[in-house]
Order: sequence, then C-alpha cells, then structure tokens
Amino acid sequence: MAQQRRIAVTGAFGTLGAAVVRAALAAGHAVAAIDRAPVPAGLGAAHGFGGVDLADTTAAKGALDAAAAALGGLDALVNIAGTFRFETLADGSAETWDLLYRVNLRTAIAASRAALAHLPDERGRIVNIGAAAALKAGAGMGAYAASKSGVMRFTEALAEEVKTRGITVNALLPSIIDTAPNRADMPKADFSRWVRPEQLAAVILFLLSDDASAITGALIPVTGRV
Ligand SMILES: NC(=O)c1ccc[n+]([C@@H]2O[C@H](COP(=O)([O-])OP(=O)(O)OC[C@H]3O[C@@H](n4cnc5c(N)ncnc54)[C@H](OP(=O)(O)O)[C@@H]3O)[C@@H](O)[C@H]2O)c1
Repeated sequence: MAQQRRIAVTGAFGTLGAAVVRAALAAGHAVAAIDRAPVPAGLGAAHGFGGVDLADTTAAKGALDAAAAALGGLDALVNIAGTFRFETLADGSAETWDLLYRVNLRTAIAASRAALAHLPDERGRIVNIGAAAALKAGAGMGAYAASKSGVMRFTEALAEEVKTRGITVNALLPSIIDTAPNRADMPKADFSRWVRPEQLAAVILFLLSDDASAITGALIPVTGRV
C-alpha cells in the first residue's frame, strides 16, 4: 500500500468532501472530516468535526489542532469547503461578494494557516478547490469567479511561500460536478459529461502521494468531458 497519510478534509460533509473522505479511507489513510454542518451518520473510520465555521480563524485553528491531535499529526489538508451563487450585478448585492469571498477563500486561508503549524517539511500537502468557471467569468458569475480566482492566486502564492520547506500547494479546477443538486437544477443536461466526485478524489489523492512531490503551484483543470 502507498504510504499512509493523515489528512484533514474541509467541507467534508458535502458531496465532493464526502467522496474524498471515502476514497482516502479506502486507500488506507487516516482522515479528519471538518465541516460547518453537523456530523452525519456513516463517516466510517473518519474523525468528524461538525459545526465549524472555517472562515473564523479561531474556530479554524481549534478544528485543525483537534484534527492533528486525533490523527497523531497531520500530513495534508484538502480545502473543499465552498459554495456557489449565480447573481447579476443588477439583481444582486455587494453582500454576495463578501459571502463568497468568506466561504470560498477565507475558509481556505484560515484552515491552511492553522494546518501549516502541523504539516511536516518535505511531505506536507495542501490541495485547494478552485473552479474552471473562474478562468473567465460569464454574466452572473462575477462574485463566484472572483472568490475562486482568489483561491487560485492564494494557491500560487502559498506554493511559493512554502516551497523551500518541501510542502506542495495545488488546486483543482473542476467544471460542473455530477452532484444531486446539479442534476436537480439542470435535469436536461447530459450528466455523463460532468466530472464525477470520485474522479476528483482520485486526482486529489494522487497530489497527496509521494509521486506528486514535484508538483506545486499547479492549477489543474479536471473537467470530465465538458
Ligand atoms: N458542485 C459543483 O459543480 C462545483 C464546481 C466547481 C467547483 N466546486 C467547488 O467544489 C467544492 C465542493 O462542492 P460541493 O458541490 O461538494 O459542495 P457542497 O456539497 O455544498 O459541500 C460544501 C460543504 O462545505 C461546507 N461549508 C460551507 N461553508 C463553510 C464554512 N464557512 N466552514 C466550514 N464548512 C463550510 C458546507 O456546509 P453547509 O452545508 O453548512 O453550508 C458543505 O457541507 C466547493 O468548494 C465548490 O465551490 C463545485
């Protein structure tokens, strides 16, 4: 088996987060699952931390410290917590821009800062989730794309900051993910073209592995057949 990692996953009770937790456990890793939502049933062997607003730096530090204590240390952080809003300027509000910044970017900043106190030199890993839709914003996508662009620039900057420690920081840029809410919102779409959570989880686990030690600061589109 590949080397076992101690992995903290944020947004772990959502669709992608749960898929990453399942894949990591199946691969024999030890997992701390952190989310603002309550701890659900069926987490398996993962340590669950619910009710954590990761945009709150004190709460983020408390959760990452508790995760490291539960796992006996921490090798990797996967920042998945996030959300989406579609809103034009005419019909929207400035608060939406604040909200998406807070949920999509500030959570990753606060969790990464807390995790870096634990991550080991030479093999520490951070993986963030950007968005392919943030590479060029369409109408109504401004606030979301700006927040995810922030995640992408944060990924690049932090990768440079910790490069000499041998810690890698990368981001996946998914297109629309095959989730139940997306299927409900777009019932006539061809779901077979959408990237599946399991496919994203496989790429994330690769980035956490020894084989990916030379990849850092990368923004990797994982877009299925879109
Ligand atoms: N779905 C897509 O098509 C798509 C496409 C590209 C990128 N992405 C990105 O991929 C990631 C996962 O998407 P998903 O569809 O799996 O989302 P999801 O099912 O909504 O899961 C996101 C999870 O993050 C949690 N969360 C939100 N704000 C938080 C906070 N402040 N502190 C802690 N946890 C928080 C949510 O908890 P609550 O339920 O309490 O809010 C939820 O459990 C997100 O970053 C998303 O932006 C998604």
